[in-house]
Amino acid sequence: MDEKRSPSLSYVPVGTDDLAELAAAARRCQACDLYKCATQLVFGEGPTPAPMMLIGEQPGDREDLVGRPFVGPAGELLDDALDAAEIPRDQVYVTNAVKHFKWEPRGKRRLHARPSMAEIHACRGWLEAEIGVVRPEVIVCLGATAAQVFFGRGFRLTRSRGVLEDGAPWAERILATFHPSALLRMKGGDEGEYTRVRRAFTLDLAEAASAVSFRSPGVRHRGARSSAAV
Ligand code: URA
Repeated sequence: MDEKRSPSLSYVPVGTDDLAELAAAARRCQACDLYKCATQLVFGEGPTPAPMMLIGEQPGDREDLVGRPFVGPAGELLDDALDAAEIPRDQVYVTNAVKHFKWEPRGKRRLHARPSMAEIHACRGWLEAEIGVVRPEVIVCLGATAAQVFFGRGFRLTRSRGVLEDGAPWAERILATFHPSALLRMKGGDEGEYTRVRRAFTLDLAEAASAVSFRSPGVRHRGARSSAAV
């Protein structure tokens, strides 16, 4: 991660391992301007500690209205892929690199707008605090924005997707894969390509799971790439 101090660190309570306290403090965050246009801040959710942490880019339209991460169409696709990869959803912590929805008006619709590097950096204090509380064994970056938080701006999904990297100091391992919204955008296009990418997404999740001990009886992922149901 970028070495410069993230402005959100001025809002992060020191030394807490209470997720509710963190989330409450995050709701007061004005470290960048995104709070002005969003309905509400969307903090991460899931068990703490959790063996696996999934990090998306930012909340979407639905998440902004509901106040929870990955509850819209991208979340549905993600849930299906986790299921296919035999990852117990209730043992996964889910969050975003940026906690407010950035959008631009298009008629009556609010269209997703990509967060800037400055906005991602501004929000990094919250992500670091979440990692400190969740203490994941493996972090899965959903899309390039989340991956760039850890691997820098030069990270390219096309070159480094699906590889279990050394995750120090944040986790044992970090793996970057597609963002589920990218898959949604492919739907209705080339069916063969969609099927191929969807399968690769599930296999990437299964690969990440192979680095993790889940609590569920009998689920220890090994040789994930050959055994995942896709
Ligand atoms: N896309 C994201 O990156 N995060 C969400 O929570 C929803 C859609």
